[in-house]
Amino acid sequence: MEELQASELGTREYWDNRYKEEIANFKDHGDPGEIWFGEDIVERIMKWIKKNVSITKNSKFLDVGCGNGMFLIELAVQGYTNLHGIDYSEDAIILAKSIAQKQDFQIQYSTCNILERLEGQFDIIHDKGTYDAISLNANIQEYRIKYLDNVHKGLNNDGFFIITSCNWTKDELDQQFQNYFVCVDNVPTPQFKFGGKTGNIVTSLVYKKL
Ligand SMILES: C[S@@+](CC[C@H](N)C(=O)[O-])C[C@H]1O[C@@H](n2cnc3c(N)ncnc32)[C@H](O)[C@@H]1O
Repeated sequence: MEELQASELGTREYWDNRYKEEIANFKDHGDPGEIWFGEDIVERIMKWIKKNVSITKNSKFLDVGCGNGMFLIELAVQGYTNLHGIDYSEDAIILAKSIAQKQDFQIQYSTCNILERLEGQFDIIHDKGTYDAISLNANIQEYRIKYLDNVHKGLNNDGFFIITSCNWTKDELDQQFQNYFVCVDNVPTPQFKFGGKTGNIVTSLVYKKL
């Protein structure tokens, strides 16, 4: 399998600097920062969650690499109550807490590196762009196993792991996850046409534990 070329997006320093700037923007003019891959993807994932009858308003959600926490804010707006976010950048967590506090939402945030540990058990583990960022690190082969071990351990047996990636196709993710998870659904994502071929800009997939 071909790996991606390492980039600064695979380092904590990059994210710390970025969130420091976003904290300043939020304080200055209330801008919460980037919604990675756009609001349309969030809407599509919400739609999938809402139509899944086994997910209730009290189901326990974890957003891995939650950044500014806007995905959890959207879940809170939709009435979901058991919401948790982790990010290895302390500045991301400071920003996410400020945004939730301003809107009066109870969301549990903590600073945590998913490659080191994951405390708690969850019904839904969501990742939008975090596995992508981790994949841009030079140590990806070692990190992939740590990431998958921790996400697998933290997911309840009948839980869902929802992941959105702009770096990997469904076939590549299926292959990388094959010892841990099986794909059970494909959240429709916007398509583009180029040179007569149709493709997806991002892939959103739902996995269950093996
Ligand atoms: C592309 S951003 C996506 C942020 C958020 N999920 C969203 O959709 O807006 C990637 C996030 O992953 C976080 N991250 C990267 N590696 C991580 C790790 N090992 N543990 C926890 N968070 C990590 C970064 O700090 C950053 O917030």
